[in-house]
Amino acid sequence: MESDIYETAWQKLLDSIIYYEDRPVGTVAALDTEGEAVNYDQCFIRDFVPSALIFLIKGKTEIVRFFLLQTLKLQIKETQLDFLEPGRGLMPASFKVVYVDEEEYLKADFGDRAIGRVTPVDSCLWWLFLLRAYVIATEQYCLAHSPEFQKGIRLIMELCLSARFDMYPTLLVPDGSSMIDRRMGIDGHPLEIQSLFYSALLTARQLLIPDRENFKILKAVENRLEPLAAHIRHHYWLDIERLNIIYRYKGEEYGEEALNQFNIYSNSIPYAQLSEWLPEAGGYLVGNLGPSKLDCRFFSLGNLMAILSSLTTKKQSQAIMNVIEQKWEDLIGYMPMKICFPALKNRDWEVLTGCDPKNRPWSYHNGGNWPVLLWMLAAAAQKTNRIEIAQKAIEIAARRLKTDEWAEYYDGKNGRLIGKEARKYQTWTIASFLCAKEILDNPQNMKIVSFDFNDLVECS
Ligand code: GLC
Repeated sequence: MESDIYETAWQKLLDSIIYYEDRPVGTVAALDTEGEAVNYDQCFIRDFVPSALIFLIKGKTEIVRFFLLQTLKLQIKETQLDFLEPGRGLMPASFKVVYVDEEEYLKADFGDRAIGRVTPVDSCLWWLFLLRAYVIATEQYCLAHSPEFQKGIRLIMELCLSARFDMYPTLLVPDGSSMIDRRMGIDGHPLEIQSLFYSALLTARQLLIPDRENFKILKAVENRLEPLAAHIRHHYWLDIERLNIIYRYKGEEYGEEALNQFNIYSNSIPYAQLSEWLPEAGGYLVGNLGPSKLDCRFFSLGNLMAILSSLTTKKQSQAIMNVIEQKWEDLIGYMPMKICFPALKNRDWEVLTGCDPKNRPWSYHNGGNWPVLLWMLAAAAQKTNRIEIAQKAIEIAARRLKTDEWAEYYDGKNGRLIGKEARKYQTWTIASFLCAKEILDNPQNMKIVSFDFNDLVECS
């Protein structure tokens, strides 16, 4: 029975592989045969991450290498003069194999066809994450050190680090620019992007050769790491102690000495609910920070990736795991795990989602449960030595995923309902489940997903 579910999952994963020039190049988002494909027949960069990880773990490294090579070719390399094209360095959200006059080529979507025309900021950050995982798993540093890859990494860093209209060390992005690719009030400096940005900076520092060409960009990377970590660890952190401080904040403070630097009005944060909800030994990184804005929603991906990239301190990482353990019903429930908590309701839902019916309260991105988050939960649990959390979560997922035909997401406050519009045979659900199990069973696999404190030079 046990092994049966893993065998089925593996088979389904193999079925989802896309071929280009007769070689495996990625996996489709979903193999659902019921609904209209829309763009679920494409390979999304973010969706491919758990697939790539499990392929690397199982020694099927060729597909990951070819994916990295081909997606690198799709990256925007030149600045367009009419400035209507996406920026240099951007990676597509997704691609598919198309045929023109019997010739194959890869057609990329940079958000220019996607619903809502959302910018896939996370793609280039995930791409770097995968490149690092690949070189560590295969020890083929030469791939990352080749001129094309060095240029690709440099372009991503230049795009992220270019001068902007912004005063913060975090990355300023539009709404819907990552896994939550619909309007959800996450424009500005959302946590998910910051965690991925931090891991991308660490990766660039590890993989860029310190030569004359990279000198300037390496310096810019180095200069950004510390302020970014300090900013997030302090200003995004919320525990009872911080809540007490924010609750008594004074507004309208001017100058360097201001305590309430972002002019947060405590009435804007749900301190009554938070003072009941937050466990005594718990804490987490809030979802977003801006002028008079502190978004106190708990976003799982950002918090888990912050643990994996060591953006959070060891103490903070433990506190996040405490929240997950003690708020189990809210954050895990019947399917690991909630994408964000709590859901936006009433007027907040109307204003922040634009009345999006797919993102009704406790559905889809607005408080739905997403099995893809399982691999990150398992890895964060492994890193913080809280493996019982991973074990329990995998058991819960194993009870339902196969019967529910590997649903994309779940609805309801406790994640008990299969998502109203969820695809079946969603590839990242399948891959994440397999990946979580491998990470739990073999801590050695952590080396491809986790960044150590002071993780400086890994390859020469
Ligand atoms: C949805 C998700 C997005 C994912 C895509 C393909 O749009 O929000 O994160 O990449 O589906 O699975």
